[in-house]
Amino acid sequence: MFITFEGIDGSGKTTQSELLASHFKQIRGKNNVILTREPGGTDFAEKVRRVLLKDNIDPISELLLLTSMRYEHVKKLILPALKEGKIVICDRFIDSTIAYQGYGLGVDLGLIGDLHKLVKIRRPDITFILDIDVQVGLSRARYKNKYEEMDINFYNKVRKGFQEIALKEPDRCNVITEVETKNDNQVYSEISDKVIISRT
Ligand code: TYD
Repeated sequence: MFITFEGIDGSGKTTQSELLASHFKQIRGKNNVILTREPGGTDFAEKVRRVLLKDNIDPISELLLLTSMRYEHVKKLILPALKEGKIVICDRFIDSTIAYQGYGLGVDLGLIGDLHKLVKIRRPDITFILDIDVQVGLSRARYKNKYEEMDINFYNKVRKGFQEIALKEPDRCNVITEVETKNDNQVYSEISDKVIISRT
């Protein structure tokens, strides 16, 4: 099973992916659960991540780079783990590219979709989208990367992007609403309820 977490910076998806991974590690065994992230997940992609989150490049170049990092990640880590029956939990994946590069930076959504189809990027089975007020999210974000220096208007577009993805793919996407009004335990209990329902 391939589970992804999505949302704007400061939405708490890293905490939630860690909580879900430790739950599965307890019931399935440590070696049967992979917790990974994007941009990154392989040695190569983690090296590129450092540059990508700092340097400003054209949004199309960014899309191409992110797709090649994702291809490496899927081919070298995600698919082999899924073939072995492991649970893979990934902090950000394709929906971040649609929301940030597509809705946020204006890259054509058709191009993003076509590129991912062309290289046959595996779709997640379940995606959690943590929807949070933009001002609250940004004030919570711990590390500043180049996206976090963008204005509120950019983040409103990114947030809307995630909401639209959820409307287009309701079977895959579960939106956790009003995250700014909930603590980590409340958010996690909504997530764990949905994982149990989806698996039965
Ligand atoms: P993340 O690891 O969530 O940030 P943090 O360092 O706060 O934990 O993500 C890094 C940034 O990369 C985030 O601002 C969103 C951006 N991003 C994209 O723009 N497109 C993508 O496809 C991905 C995966 C991330």
